[in-house]
Amino acid sequence: MALHQATASAPVNIACIKYWGKRDTKLILPTNSSLSVTLDQDHLRSTTTSRADPSFERDRLWLNGVEEEIKDGGRTATCIAELKRLRREEVEDKQPNEPKLSTYAVHIASYNNFPTAAGLASSASGFAALVSSLAQLYSLPVSPSTLSLIARQGSGSACRSLYGGFVAWDQGSNPTGIDSLAREVAPQSHWPDIHALICVVSDDKKGTSSTSGMQRTVETSELLQHRINHVVPQRLKAIEEAILKKDFDSFAQITMADSNQFHAVALDTEPPIFYLNDVSRAIIALIVEYNRVSVAAGRGRRAAYTYDAGPNAVIYTLKENVKEIVELVVKYFPQREGSFKDVFELFAGVDVAATEGKVVEG
Ligand code: DP6
Repeated sequence: MALHQATASAPVNIACIKYWGKRDTKLILPTNSSLSVTLDQDHLRSTTTSRADPSFERDRLWLNGVEEEIKDGGRTATCIAELKRLRREEVEDKQPNEPKLSTYAVHIASYNNFPTAAGLASSASGFAALVSSLAQLYSLPVSPSTLSLIARQGSGSACRSLYGGFVAWDQGSNPTGIDSLAREVAPQSHWPDIHALICVVSDDKKGTSSTSGMQRTVETSELLQHRINHVVPQRLKAIEEAILKKDFDSFAQITMADSNQFHAVALDTEPPIFYLNDVSRAIIALIVEYNRVSVAAGRGRRAAYTYDAGPNAVIYTLKENVKEIVELVVKYFPQREGSFKDVFELFAGVDVAATEGKVVEG
């Protein structure tokens, strides 16, 4: 009897150029390209184990030990179906002696190693790990960018977690989505000094989800059209250049401008969406002042804030500034209930997935 099982993990990523808006909600095709930094595997990752067995009656999924329903035609079902199709086409049809794993149901268990207190969404690392673990289980001879096409259909931002380092998600133009995939801009080793600080302002789950919020923005915001057509393309080019040149001042300027515009577009939505709170705005003011002093001293910007669909700040900075910034944040935001919870220091950009795949003969 063979045991067909594989485990893989994938890290969280935080966008510098935000994805916000879909042109196809089923295939998850974005209205603009985006770019992110993949965070440290050791601190923030999802780890997923998948097993295929002829005795399993149906596909099942557990998240942090709690079973979740796999809805027909839903995002998880789509990812599983796509990977089974690849198993059939790439392995079983070509090598008839391989076991017909695509015909077995799968059981999938996924865990996050980050506390819910980190206040971070887990869909990016979660779907990236799910897709990686099934790809290993099925011994698929495919590249991370092919896997990113599938992870994208789980959650848009998940496609960027298939790579470590600095990652672009090219929006593509083909209606099938075949060219809407992740691309490595530079590996983590290119610029290992970049660190990320996560300032947990609130770990509440309340608010508008990314999925429904961005759909409302697409339907109602005029500013989004300006962003898509006249801002993001130039910004992407400029930030890629900044990354390749290790120009932190430009990287910071673009990252903060894009976070600001993303929240402006949320505010331009009908009804408006507010993701930042007073503490988030006070952290912005602190970083602006920190950079003002730094620029005046001829050192350029040394920190960049960015916010996703919630009030928690991620601050990118170079390693040499981490201690100073943590001290500032803790000084101005003494940790107390309702104001500011915690600050996590993370090293950005470690390469993806120390993975382990196995087929055990038993
Ligand atoms: C603000 O990837 O969570 O974090 O594709 O609907 O699952 P779905 O949305 P999701 O949106 C992420 C939005 C963001 C920006 C970003 O990560 O680029």
